Amino acid sequence: MRETAQAADLLSWYDRHARQMPWRTGPAERAAGQRPDPYHVWLSEVMLQQTTVAAVRDYFTRFTTLWPTVGALAAEEDARVMGEWAGLGYYARARNLLKCARVVVSDHGGQFPDTREGLLKLPGVGPYTAAAIASIAFDRPEVVVDGNVERVMARLHDIHTPLPAAKPELTERAAALTPEERPGDYAQAVMDLGATICTPRNPACGICPWRAPCAARAAGTAPELPKKTPKKPKPIRLGVAYVARREDGAWLLETRPDKGLLGGMLGWPGSDWAEALPAHTPPVAADWQDLGEEARHTFTHFHLCLAIRVARLPMGANPERGAFLPAATFRPSDLPTVMRKAFDLARGQFVELD
Ligand code: ADE
Repeated sequence: MRETAQAADLLSWYDRHARQMPWRTGPAERAAGQRPDPYHVWLSEVMLQQTTVAAVRDYFTRFTTLWPTVGALAAEEDARVMGEWAGLGYYARARNLLKCARVVVSDHGGQFPDTREGLLKLPGVGPYTAAAIASIAFDRPEVVVDGNVERVMARLHDIHTPLPAAKPELTERAAALTPEERPGDYAQAVMDLGATICTPRNPACGICPWRAPCAARAAGTAPELPKKTPKKPKPIRLGVAYVARREDGAWLLETRPDKGLLGGMLGWPGSDWAEALPAHTPPVAADWQDLGEEARHTFTHFHLCLAIRVARLPMGANPERGAFLPAATFRPSDLPTVMRKAFDLARGQFVELD
């Protein structure tokens, strides 16, 4: 089959089955001449890096309600944006998001560049995201390859080379299929196919618009593809978090340094994290008690086991690290997930101060 015909088969499936998403301009709207807002496409693509559609939906809606334009986002205070990002993870994305919004305003008059090359120069926009925005927002025939697309291509061509070694070959295959017509719809159609039919387990080959050309379906190998080189097991790192509250109810918190894990986020002062608990001193001298429960969280490269120490502090306490945040201003939802877990475990120790 000619490749344009194959793309057309997928597009006609997409016309009937496109998933609705708050950032998406669906195929019918596009056919009626509507164009997506590049700000929405950019914001959604940054949020969707390493994160599921289900996790992103509410964050996207909240961000676009609070900041309807890239200019509004660019003008916001860092801490406010980081607080709204809390829980989504990969916090470097949020720092770059703000940097990028400000560059778009200062260097591009508030308009996103409309080519892959122009987009690539923006902070936090790598090859995948640049291709996705150029394609979805500006209908440029760029090759958009995410995990869904890799799986679809591996099966379509029955490629058994394991990931990540197979990436260049899968990208080549994806490029050969990308059409000049409706590239934005096409990019999202392959993603939807991967998310709803060509799923990791139990692919629904019987109803797939690409069942005829699919080599893995013919070979019976679809469920076992793509092959993956096993990942190294993640090490466990240990740390201590100090959760303290003053007599007036204020919490002792710090903004973490921009560089490093959870950079720029609000958190409890504590030790560094390492495979053996690093030597450290508490943020303030106090009668610290071990809570006896740990906050556990898995990051990209390690599992963290965070011991929690709690203390009540007098009004005159003068910490070496962190600052007191009045109870009325502290929003637990501003905490990244592991810090929120520590808070949820420790808060019972302080209820009489509420
Ligand atoms: N994952 C990343 N970008 C996406 C998009 N535009 N639609 C669906 N899933 C996605």
